[in-house]
Amino acid sequence: MKLPRKIVLVEEGLARLYVPDLSEYIREDGLVEPAWMPVFYNPSARLSRDITILALRAFFNDKKFFFVDLLAGTGVRGIRIALEAGGVGIVNDVDPRAFDFMVENIKLNKLESELAPFNMEANALGNLLTFTGVFVDYVDIDPYGSPIPYIESSLKPLGKKALIGVSATDKGPLACVNKDKTLKRYWLDCADVDFKSELGLRLLTYNIALRASAMNYTITPVLYLSKAHYYRVFYVAERKNPFNVISKCRGYIWYCPTTLERGFKYDRDKEFDCSDGNRPLLIGPLWICPIGDENFARRLLAVLEKTLFLQRREVLKYVEYAQKEFSVNEPFIRLDLLCRKIRADMPNMELLVERLEELGFKASRTHLDPRGLKTNAPLKIVESTILELSGK
Ligand SMILES: C[S@@+](CC[C@H](N)C(=O)[O-])C[C@H]1O[C@@H](n2cnc3c(N)ncnc32)[C@H](O)[C@@H]1O
Repeated sequence: MKLPRKIVLVEEGLARLYVPDLSEYIREDGLVEPAWMPVFYNPSARLSRDITILALRAFFNDKKFFFVDLLAGTGVRGIRIALEAGGVGIVNDVDPRAFDFMVENIKLNKLESELAPFNMEANALGNLLTFTGVFVDYVDIDPYGSPIPYIESSLKPLGKKALIGVSATDKGPLACVNKDKTLKRYWLDCADVDFKSELGLRLLTYNIALRASAMNYTITPVLYLSKAHYYRVFYVAERKNPFNVISKCRGYIWYCPTTLERGFKYDRDKEFDCSDGNRPLLIGPLWICPIGDENFARRLLAVLEKTLFLQRREVLKYVEYAQKEFSVNEPFIRLDLLCRKIRADMPNMELLVERLEELGFKASRTHLDPRGLKTNAPLKIVESTILELSGK
């Protein structure tokens, strides 16, 4: 075996894996720091991998599919996809040390007939696969930082209808924490908003859709997950004219920082004022269609009932949230800020959601922010409902 001496055997889902000895890479806060390891393995990204398995089982519905895990590290994700979702395919990493781990982990899980390990630069592999006549049904892009450098080469080998799973850890630039970085990477003048984590998803989705569109692919977002240090999103990619989608889903968000009013608009030149007379900030172009599909989330819930090896409690909590929050497209409102504005106490979130639904609106909490409310109710109605609940 070609692996370094300090390795341990771990279990995740149905997979057994050799990984670098995690106890050697513990930070002061007690968490493992994967960036220090010779080969990347992050136990706290398990939810992202569990959700990947669920999404694949829901999308491919027990049918065999061909996949590429482009940036595989130890191979954990690809190995789990083969064992738990029935995929066959390629696990790839440019780092020769990662390649050695992948080879041993494939053997350990007896997947030599299902998985081929590759040691190539990801874009080179994507481009190469384009000319093999093998159509890829699922591609997984799990980079350090931004996925953007890998999008185009990943799309090229896809079949007529495929799924792509994308991670992004550059949450700062995506959420407009540093405007210059956002402009440099995503070509967008952004602004400080209260729905930062949702802004990042809309920006990322728009950028991927734009690249896909140039290659005549339409992408439809079906699932998003946001955790402290990463986003994980899934898109259905179809080889069909993207014009209708891009013209419908490309737009702007207007936002009033003092009144907290917000909304979507198509035409950046059509001007109007916030209710306090100020001009709204305009952010975009970005994706203004839904970024998750409630029907897909419902399918995940059904699949979860039959999938016993996932970390059920955490996955179930996420899927239940997803199902509800995906039904509301409007950017979430930070209730603590809204309550400060109208000088009311924070209401019980569940009661507020219930009351808005009784009034005939859509409303949901969001896993993106514990203080966030997604609703299609006008802001004035949300404010009066909060005041009503607080007895004012
Ligand atoms: C975040 S880690 C992948 C983790 C893995 N997917 C998992 O679930 O544990 C990113 C990996 O991408 C690899 N990598 C970075 N740049 C690459 C490139 N241009 N081509 C192929 N692999 C690359 C790194 O060696 C690293 O193992």
